[in-house]
Amino acid sequence: MPESSAAIDVEQLVREFRKGPRAVDGIDLTVSPGEIYGFLGPNGAGKSTTVLMLTTLLPPTSGRARVGGFDVVHQGSQVRAAIGAALQEAALDPILTGREHVMLQATLQGIAKAGRKARADALLERVGLTEAADRRVGGYSGGMKRRLDLALALVHSPRILFLDEPTTGLDPQSRSALWEEVARLAHDEGMTVFLTTQYLEEADVLADRVGIIDRGRIVAEGTPAQLKAEIGSPSVEILPVDAGAGDALAQLLAGFGAPTRNGRGSVTVQLPDGEAQLAGVVRALDQADLHVASLQLHQPSLDDVFLAKTGRKLEGAAEQEPDEQQAPARRGRGRDGG
Ligand SMILES: Nc1ncnc2c1ncn2[C@@H]1O[C@H](COP(=O)(O)OP(=O)(O)OP(=O)(O)O)[C@@H](O)[C@H]1O
Ligand SMILES: [Mg+2]
Repeated sequence: MPESSAAIDVEQLVREFRKGPRAVDGIDLTVSPGEIYGFLGPNGAGKSTTVLMLTTLLPPTSGRARVGGFDVVHQGSQVRAAIGAALQEAALDPILTGREHVMLQATLQGIAKAGRKARADALLERVGLTEAADRRVGGYSGGMKRRLDLALALVHSPRILFLDEPTTGLDPQSRSALWEEVARLAHDEGMTVFLTTQYLEEADVLADRVGIIDRGRIVAEGTPAQLKAEIGSPSVEILPVDAGAGDALAQLLAGFGAPTRNGRGSVTVQLPDGEAQLAGVVRALDQADLHVASLQLHQPSLDDVFLAKTGRKLEGAAEQEPDEQQAPARRGRGRDGG
């Protein structure tokens, strides 16, 4: 049988727990080499169960998965040699230092003794832990632990990296630092990244392609732009300088679609052909000598996609960590949650 050229290739993968649900209920997905695939879904959707199967830590109930060209059930050791993983239940030892963890991992991964120290230094530097390297992990912050997890996953230079909710519980600064590092690994080093997240923004910003999983099933898949485009076209909201110009504005915008008047005196119109129509709108405003106080383009968000596919809001479906404050701009779009 010819080997698949995909980095990850999954067909009808199922995992049932004896006393639990069908946690993963027949998923299909393909990830290309060098791609960042974002697996987005609420608590209990089946993200970690999928990652555990793809990293050979949990046998599938049925279906097939190849990672790095190897079957996760029959070629587990080849799969494990090709991958690195930072899992949700990280096993760090509080009494060891960051450097000791990396050195230990390098030993376990069979890195020659002569190369271990340099490798550890390079990795600790890369994840920004050089200064904290000789401190015990028990004193690390959540963000530092996540960064150490990432360094440990990278010790043997894997081709494929699995990250299970790498930024849950992190402050915005640590989160964007981690995003940058993951993007660098994929785009500069050609590493394939399979990353799970509950954060719309994370999937949107970081992933080349997103699969939305809910109750064990993939309900939507595509690039963030494709997914949003499926939901609908963007709309533009225009506030005239002259509060009395609403009628004229609405009339003008009727040339583009069905305008709606908003309470604040602004007028919104959907652009069926997308944001490329914005230039035409601006030209028309100019020609009509209509002065604009503000003009805003509203793109459909991944939350709209989740809502359209499941009838629920993703951020309502997921329980946020108490210290988690994120993506407020994506809330409250005024659509019914069903
Ligand atoms: N070992 C297990 N035994 C029984 N049920 C399990 C087991 N592991 C997971 N489940 C159930 O399978 C479903 C999927 O769980 P999973 O951990 O894959 O979700 P998740 O998407 O990773 O969620 P989270 O965002 O909270 O990490 C849940 O209903 C969970 O309770
Ligand atoms: Mg999980």
